Amino acid sequence: MHKVIFDTDPGVDDAIALYFALAHPSIEVLGITTTFGNVHVHQAAANALYLTRLAGHRIPVTQGIASPWVQPPGTPPAFIHGDDGLGNLPRRLPCPDALDPRPSAQFIVDTVRAHPHEVSLVAVGPLGNLALALKLAPDIASLVRQVIVMGGAALEPGNVSPVAEANIWNDPHAADIVFGAGWPITMVGLDVTHQVVTELVLFEQLAQLHRHPATDTLLHAVQFYCQFYSGLHKHRFATPGCFAHDLLAFMVLVQPDWFGTESGVVRVVTEGIAKGQTVLRRRDFVDYPQSGWETQRPRTLVCMEVDAQACVDLFVQTLARPWMR
Ligand code: BDR
Ligand code: CA
Repeated sequence: MHKVIFDTDPGVDDAIALYFALAHPSIEVLGITTTFGNVHVHQAAANALYLTRLAGHRIPVTQGIASPWVQPPGTPPAFIHGDDGLGNLPRRLPCPDALDPRPSAQFIVDTVRAHPHEVSLVAVGPLGNLALALKLAPDIASLVRQVIVMGGAALEPGNVSPVAEANIWNDPHAADIVFGAGWPITMVGLDVTHQVVTELVLFEQLAQLHRHPATDTLLHAVQFYCQFYSGLHKHRFATPGCFAHDLLAFMVLVQPDWFGTESGVVRVVTEGIAKGQTVLRRRDFVDYPQSGWETQRPRTLVCMEVDAQACVDLFVQTLARPWMR
């Protein structure tokens, strides 16, 4: 079993990833920590709680960091995920459960210490909760099993600027801390997420199969999200579909062999025109004179290639299981 803390800003592709994690037989979600990003953090926490309970799963959900480490807060991208982060749901069923009262960073510290060397942090939003957890308890860097981050781009163009991916751009200072922490870390960025398309028809088939409020809600959210992606990437989508970015973080967790990787120092540009760029040092044999690029700095495993069809097939097989309680 993979014990996981899921750090997330739901968000439509976050919801897809969450339901994959809940449905996969070898993933045990110990808790969900939330951050600002696709929505404000209180909405992210409410969405995580709602989605989880709707599927009948009782997992602690915490509210985390509300704004970036250094830069001023931005405006959530309602045009991608909806005002509510789930494609503007017309209504919600009652959800009487409450959040776990701990701040997300404290939850991460407590849980990692309670399960030394067992917990994978799967982070698919801006990285402030992880940076704060490291600040509260630097020992967790040597106690986690691994960190998997959906964010960044090594060679692929960005999605909020020509060089920056959204999660990193939203909090570049936190991201530079997280990549430099010295824990085993894998970057699942646009280099691979832009290679995997999930078509709307798959979500329609899953909703038809289960006839359950959880998969109906997911379908509603994905319909909204697909309008954005199918409009933006007309050349990529023959039929309505989307990049399910955050899902790939869990694919790396359960099927790392499906990914081609490079290992190297990753630094994050924190200001200026290239803010949010993740720069991978690809040539260890060059002795660069600029400081900050020393070869002995912590390294990141960066995903560069992916077996896209295998990922889509596993997603569909997993969500088709009887996973809702
Ligand atoms: C990332 O940004 C967010 O909008 C998505 O949820 C994903 O985590 C993709 O760049
Ligand atoms: Ca996300």
